[in-house]
Amino acid sequence: MRLAIGSDHAGFELKESLKKHIISKKIDLIDVGTNSSESVDYPDFAIEVGKLINENKVDFGILICGTGIGMSIAANKIKGIRAALCLMPEMAGLARKHNNANVLVLPGRLIGFELATWILDAFLNSTFEGGRHERRVNKIKTLEE
Ligand code: RB5
Repeated sequence: MRLAIGSDHAGFELKESLKKHIISKKIDLIDVGTNSSESVDYPDFAIEVGKLINENKVDFGILICGTGIGMSIAANKIKGIRAALCLMPEMAGLARKHNNANVLVLPGRLIGFELATWILDAFLNSTFEGGRHERRVNKIKTLEE
């Protein structure tokens, strides 16, 4: 599995901690930044992660800002991206199983590292169920045309 991760300044600390967790699982990871706590604009990182997914350079993306809301809004404007802001592991599992989400969004200022790892693991360990969910995801895709 190949992942891309990106954050703004408000998600930087959680991104750095999650990177270690991901690398310990021997997953390939591309970090698109940001690289410090200096103020930056979250859409820039959503765009970079979206590109890597659409160019098939990674399978999934992880985006972190303060609330996760800005990253979600930005990422979901990118064709082909289905970004899910998840606050608990159950949401992350269902985001993969039912919504075929390809980006997990986390709120760096609202959750701690341990909960973030549970959410991330639920996302990575779940698979799209297809069937009636595929029909619904396909209807979402028609909105992009
Ligand atoms: C940055 O201050 C903050 O607005 C951003 O991280 C995010 O929460 C926006 O949705």
